[in-house]
Amino acid sequence: MIEELFIAKNDLSVLKQQYMFQAQAPSNIALVKYWGKKPHQIPANPSISFTLSNCHTTTKIIFNQKKKSLATFEVFFEGAKKNSFKPKLQTFFERIAPYVPFLAAFDMEIHTSNSFPHSSGIASSASGMAAMAHCIMQLEKTLDTQISEDYFYQKASFLARLGSGSASRSIKGNVVVWGENESIPKSSDLYGVPFPFELHTNFKNYKDTILLVDKGEKQVSSTVGHQLMHQHPFAKQRFEQAHDNLKKMTSILQNGDLDAFIALVESEALTLHAMMMTSLPYFILMKPNTLKILESVWAFRKETGLKLCFTLDAGANVHLLYPTYQEKQINDFITRELAAYCQNNHYICDSLGSGTHAI
Ligand code: DP6
Repeated sequence: MIEELFIAKNDLSVLKQQYMFQAQAPSNIALVKYWGKKPHQIPANPSISFTLSNCHTTTKIIFNQKKKSLATFEVFFEGAKKNSFKPKLQTFFERIAPYVPFLAAFDMEIHTSNSFPHSSGIASSASGMAAMAHCIMQLEKTLDTQISEDYFYQKASFLARLGSGSASRSIKGNVVVWGENESIPKSSDLYGVPFPFELHTNFKNYKDTILLVDKGEKQVSSTVGHQLMHQHPFAKQRFEQAHDNLKKMTSILQNGDLDAFIALVESEALTLHAMMMTSLPYFILMKPNTLKILESVWAFRKETGLKLCFTLDAGANVHLLYPTYQEKQINDFITRELAAYCQNNHYICDSLGSGTHAI
């Protein structure tokens, strides 16, 4: 089992009383979507994403040698104790325990904050879990100085995945593939790998403007949505299609064909939401303004020929993707026409980033 490679040595003979590590991890936006999973956070299909830059989580973990027989943890969000984060973190710690046995020697104090507003409808689980995983790997590297850089990042992504699947794609690289696919050598269901080919210059510093259509809590969580793919009538075809789309995307990202990129990205976004609408129970996460934006984007593209397209997460917000060299005209259009569809005219400007780093 390849998972066994990720079991840390557990030599605790020299242990300091306290360690502290910090990491900053970005969010990411999937181009080919992960929707559906098998046990142990194994994806039902491979996915590929752009790593973001401005939307990120900063996390500091203080590891204190434990006082009682059972290790404990406390979590603080933007300075205040946040017990509602505990169940998800508890599950994360239980899942990663076999791979990081040294954690059992510590009580943890976790301090975390996001660069984006908390109630923005932007999922913080990808950036949050990636930052946690990176801090834990910094501790592992301190306890076992022999581990290589490759191992560090692979395992950080492996641990992040156990917290949240999409978090595996927030660790390293500006374009990341998670899940086995024949077009990507060394791709794995266990961790994300940086896109191994030269990215066409059209995609360098690609832009993502996130239109905050609905900042409220979603009615259906991603976790529930993934589960609904189990009895889904179109699941098999969808998983096959995602494999195909990933292969196509692998070529597009190298040849820079922006029309093909737009067609594939928008189709993936709508397919994701079509899966939601055709599961049992069915649900819709788009809002009326989401649709208005999609129509405006199509009309704008027809009129101007500019390479603006949209993608969607599991929510009502819209990610607008476009090349840097068309930034000016597209930004004018966003402020002039699309901002009005956002809650309080609020949107976030982001672009391609490179992953998680220690701070
Ligand atoms: C629609 O990674 O949030 O954003 O593994 O249950 O934490 P869990 O799910 P999560 O699912 C993300 C789904 C998505 C598509 C994507 O990012 O690929």
